[in-house]
Amino acid sequence: MNLYTFPDVLARMPFLAEFDDESTDQEFAALVAQLRPRLRNVLGVTIGKGGQGKTTLAANVAYMLAEEQAARAANGKSAKPILYVELDANGNGRREFGLQDGEFDDDGARLLKALTTDGDFTVVRDVKPYLDSAISGAKLGDLSSRISRISMDHGSGAYLLLALLLAQISHHYRWIILDFSPGDKETQRSGMAAATHHIAPVMDSDNGTLDGLKTLALLLRKTRKLLNPEAEITAIAFLGFNKREEKQTAQLEIVRTKIEAQLVKANLDPALMLDGFVRKAEGLAALCRNQGRPAREMAMAASGELMDRKTGETVPRPRDERGRYVEKVHAIKLASDYNDVVRELITRVRARNNMLREREAQGAVA
Ligand SMILES: Nc1ncnc2c1ncn2[C@@H]1O[C@H](COP(=O)(O)OP(=O)(O)OP(=O)(O)O)[C@@H](O)[C@H]1O
Ligand SMILES: [Mg+2]
Repeated sequence: MNLYTFPDVLARMPFLAEFDDESTDQEFAALVAQLRPRLRNVLGVTIGKGGQGKTTLAANVAYMLAEEQAARAANGKSAKPILYVELDANGNGRREFGLQDGEFDDDGARLLKALTTDGDFTVVRDVKPYLDSAISGAKLGDLSSRISRISMDHGSGAYLLLALLLAQISHHYRWIILDFSPGDKETQRSGMAAATHHIAPVMDSDNGTLDGLKTLALLLRKTRKLLNPEAEITAIAFLGFNKREEKQTAQLEIVRTKIEAQLVKANLDPALMLDGFVRKAEGLAALCRNQGRPAREMAMAASGELMDRKTGETVPRPRDERGRYVEKVHAIKLASDYNDVVRELITRVRARNNMLREREAQGAVA
């Protein structure tokens, strides 16, 4: 694990120089069209309601995808790492990979600079095999006011700063996972302008979740007008619902029915809801975060199959906060839920990307 600064990232501000409050949509469209093909591997995990599992889902998706790339590499196939970026001052993303308070933890200072000045883009490389991560934290509390200040001079161009940065490094990664909350306008617009595919996690069964999805759909519709014509919800993933005999219970069925009605009303496909879902596992999820191990890694460790990357020795079986061994079967089941969710999710992302590429090719012919 080490800090890595991308060597040849161009300054982003000069791209914004031509934009101001009076820029036309066409002026914007020309830049956005250049960015889009480079951002198709950017997945945004977001919903207009807090605490729905954005960070847990984003970190686990990133880990599973990284593991797949590591396996490809081990089999002599082409492979690229995954990048995880959290845009949230709560900095929970750091915990998921055990980066909190570690030697590279700067509370998001480097990320803030990279996003709002023409600062270098530095990531923590190899936080897990084939997985890099930016560091978030309290310093990102200034993100929205800084972007807002830049937008005074450059209008909506300010919301393209993240997209301009990621478009320059996206070819180094198989997938980039953005974890952001639509809590404030600036962060939400920046994330939505960058990610091609938006994934909404749903954890609660109250109607507040429906509002959260409604907010997300509304914001994406606005985003498509100017900042990102390709921004769409690609999947809705359920987390924290009970499983009985490995099947969903009435609780999730009811939530699905309510969401389906809302999707139909908004002219969206109910099939956006993934069939696979992550079971309720509060204690284990908290332990995963506290120990910096995504579910799959926890399952490997609990099974005595995780090797320490430095020593090559088997990692001791993890214990919970009361000193008991983490139950192997429980950990394997949680990891297997994430596996199902990620497979389904990536299938949809690929299908949408094929569709976008075809549309692009037809446009080029026309
Ligand atoms: N499978 C699960 N079952 C039950 N609880 C879970 C599960 N997975 C995660 N949680 C818990 O749900 C809570 C919210 O998750 P998380 O922090 O990922 O949401 P978030 O949307 O990122 O929140 P925020 O808006 O604060 O950033 C956490 O306490 C987490 O431990
Ligand atoms: Mg979070």
